[in-house]
Amino acid sequence: MKEKIKQLEKLREQARLGGGEDKIKAQHDKGKLTARERIELLVDEGSFEELDMFVKHRAKDFGMDKKQILGDGVVTGFAKIDGRPVALFSQDFTVFGGSLSETHAEKIVKILKMAMKTGIPVIGLNDSGGARIQEGVVSLGGYADIFLLNTLASGVIPQISVVLGPCAGGAVYSPAITDFVFMAKNTSYMFVTGPNVVKTVTHEDVSFEDLGGAETHASKSGVAHFIYENEVETLVNVRKLMSYLPLNYRDKAPEKEFDLSSVKPEPKLDEIIPDNPNKPYDMKDVIQLLVDDGEFMEVHEHYAENIIVGFARMGGMSIGIIANQPAVLAGVLDINSSVKAARFVRFCDAFGIPLLVLEDVPGFLPGTDQEWNGIIRHGAKLLFAFSEATVPKVTVITRKAYGGAYDVMNSKHIRGDFNYAWPSAEIAVMGPKGAVEIIFKKEISKAKDPEKEVEKKLAEYRDKFANPYITAERGFIDDVIAPRNTRLKLINAFNLLRTKVDTNPKKKHGNIPL
Ligand code: HXC
Repeated sequence: MKEKIKQLEKLREQARLGGGEDKIKAQHDKGKLTARERIELLVDEGSFEELDMFVKHRAKDFGMDKKQILGDGVVTGFAKIDGRPVALFSQDFTVFGGSLSETHAEKIVKILKMAMKTGIPVIGLNDSGGARIQEGVVSLGGYADIFLLNTLASGVIPQISVVLGPCAGGAVYSPAITDFVFMAKNTSYMFVTGPNVVKTVTHEDVSFEDLGGAETHASKSGVAHFIYENEVETLVNVRKLMSYLPLNYRDKAPEKEFDLSSVKPEPKLDEIIPDNPNKPYDMKDVIQLLVDDGEFMEVHEHYAENIIVGFARMGGMSIGIIANQPAVLAGVLDINSSVKAARFVRFCDAFGIPLLVLEDVPGFLPGTDQEWNGIIRHGAKLLFAFSEATVPKVTVITRKAYGGAYDVMNSKHIRGDFNYAWPSAEIAVMGPKGAVEIIFKKEISKAKDPEKEVEKKLAEYRDKFANPYITAERGFIDDVIAPRNTRLKLINAFNLLRTKVDTNPKKKHGNIPL
């Protein structure tokens, strides 16, 4: 037995070395960590239990039968993060460039199936040259098996993709199906076709980084939800994200202990809205003053910045925030912000995370660019997402709630549970100027002094609509509250909604306007 155990240890040692010392050095020289180093940083110390360490590929062509490396380029297993279980896989670039073979795919599929069965999140650390070229279609089939499992697991367990190296070709579609994509600056990139193919097809000269680096995907494409300076920071923040999420759709997100008597009025909130309704302010200041310890984990921080989405806690409870940002494009809803927020709302709804909406929106962005690119169907995504969401949903209108955007941003009419407004709220079909020009067109054109007439009518309109009380009269908002008292109001609302039950009609699935 002793000898056999010795042999086992030797094999394990061999597997842990992956592609060998030279390849590990090359990986470090690129500023990258190895698959195992990443796991060590990500999970609780000593908690990782590896599976399939002895798996080898089955390829024979191109001399592959003579090149066998234990584990076949991906480290898989289970571990804990803050004491809670996760399943994970970490591609090992030191082994055939982390390329995906039939057996490499089988290891990932096994982990995904196990995670679905046990109801625990999956974290995938991606660092791969893509399909194992020597294996041809078998490798493509392996990818498809993963895509299918990613799709079936969607909404069952949270799936997090961390891209820490190349992720190219069809391989990008696994991260794309998962819930959140993390990237590290300068060492990771994602694209369907690389710079060389781009050059051939479109004659564009573009670097790896510009085409598909972290900053590109965080700000231009919206593919990456979170980006960080380096791998260590990235992995630390994956841990942080996990702290807001439940293990699966039946589980509750972890709660922090909370003392309700610690909540005091926050006078600074009374000072945020400028007297001039056309002046911007930073909605992030509002968020920071409302949430527990001022802690907000923003998702898509650099993409469609006219809307803010992310996780925080209120009264110890994990919540998702969707907030218009008056400091960027006046907080207008456009294509990108609608899609960004819709996806976030659906994630939170799938995993039972209550929603807080902070609303200051002048409407949808006008223009041919928006219309021709489909603001109608993209804006409809956000409307659809809020309408179908059955989690607790609370809205605070801080200032403008104009037009269709009033309906869309979790209004009472689409099942908002508690809808509050600050005294500064303006709720109307459209902004004063546009409205006056339409409804008083004749009076203005006939007036001796049209400019004076416009001013008079603007004042009349503002008097009537630039307040929350007409909406409150109807019960479309439940209360008008002083900004300083908002935190307590919200915590009470979310506490009351703990026992909320709401359902949608039975169906196979809805048809969100994709
Ligand atoms: C087999 C691969 C490989 C692959 C890299 N390697 N990619 N082996 N299949 N796809 C091997 C290399 O031969 C090399 O082996 C080792 O990994 C490291 O690769 P290098 O090229 O030395 O590394 P580097 O210079 O860092 O370049 C990394 C790279 C490059 C940019 C990823 O290797 C590359 O372009 N690879 C091919 C990428 C690609 O086109 N993949 C297919 C995409 S299409 P040795 O033994 O020399 O160390 C796709 C379809 C998926 O994936 C479809 C799903 C539906």
